[in-house]
Amino acid sequence: MQSIKKNYICNSTEKAAKLIDDGKIVIFPTETVYGIGANAYNDEAVSLIFKLKGRPLNNPLIVHCADIKTVEEISYLSGIAKILAESFWPGPLSLVLKRKSNNIARSVSNGLDTICVRIPSNKIALELLSKTKCKAIAAPSANLSNYISPTKIEHVIDVFGDTSILSGEQSVYGIESSIIDCSKTYDTNNCDNLISILRHGFIGTEEIQKVLDSNNLTNLKILSIKEVNNLGHNPQYKIKFDPKVEVLLAPGMMKKHYSPYTQLNINQNNNENFDKRIHINFGPQEFNGIKTFNLSKSANLEEAAFNLYTILRQADEFAIANKINLLTISSIPNHKIGIAINEKLEKAQLSI
Ligand code: TXA
Ligand code: MG
Repeated sequence: MQSIKKNYICNSTEKAAKLIDDGKIVIFPTETVYGIGANAYNDEAVSLIFKLKGRPLNNPLIVHCADIKTVEEISYLSGIAKILAESFWPGPLSLVLKRKSNNIARSVSNGLDTICVRIPSNKIALELLSKTKCKAIAAPSANLSNYISPTKIEHVIDVFGDTSILSGEQSVYGIESSIIDCSKTYDTNNCDNLISILRHGFIGTEEIQKVLDSNNLTNLKILSIKEVNNLGHNPQYKIKFDPKVEVLLAPGMMKKHYSPYTQLNINQNNNENFDKRIHINFGPQEFNGIKTFNLSKSANLEEAAFNLYTILRQADEFAIANKINLLTISSIPNHKIGIAINEKLEKAQLSI
């Protein structure tokens, strides 16, 4: 007999905070995507998140903090990291920092000496955090591992049985936070001068470069994930960590992610085989499918990011219900937030 998944929908941040402090799991809204969270100091509760999501244990979690004081209790926030924190927090940016030896649950980052932290800007998330005693909630996106991330309460209901959901609006950005590694993990002559973008989001290279320029940090180099990956082959750089950790250094490189169940083909600007596919458009020019969607008729990248996961889910559900085995999507300009959208789509095209 199939088990019935029952959620408890909660409108009170006080009650949700108490649940977190009591070692329970709570799904909550953020400005990027919905998170599934546990007290970051409670190893049993954090381990349960991995179990519920079917997430590999070597994929570490982001710790959401109520304030800078909490960030500084668990990690070393200095130099460029502090400048980025002051510029973008609260907001859709996560920083990988050296972790302090403290009681953060081991399962959060599986024994790494770094930790990924962020202060979210969503009002409900911040209220929840500030009402907890722990002030730190470990939370990945509230989806089953590899499936499309949730941006609406409808996306999380019935997915995880017996969890509480703190209700909220649709996530305003719609894609995950940018992840910047500031933990100086590269052993070079001037290792202090390297940071890297592990995952693109709303805050991209341009925004970070502006902050560096206005702080006269002209020597600081921002590496892309591809450059990080190439470091291993470049004798100029030595990655300090052991091979097990190297994998974790590049979380964005996990090939399959955010995938619909149906095969997705990207960069499809044509009307070929439209009777066999469901198509997702971007911009005023409409390509056809048995059913078509549009991320943004006015070709607005921010609107497209906001709609991305909802439309991918709708298209996937339509495909499954109508036994159609192909989703196609128009190309998305590869600048600004389009870089993050394309990063997601490249992973989504490898179906689960
Ligand atoms: O927007 C977001 O960041 C959302 C909301 C809920 O805040 N959370 C989210 O979590 O996207 P998740 O688990 O889906 O992605 C966390 C990413 C993973 O790819 C993980 O590998 C990386 O953060 N990460 C965590 N700790 C790390 C560390 N110490 N070093 C490198 N990467 C790390
Ligand atoms: Mg995720």
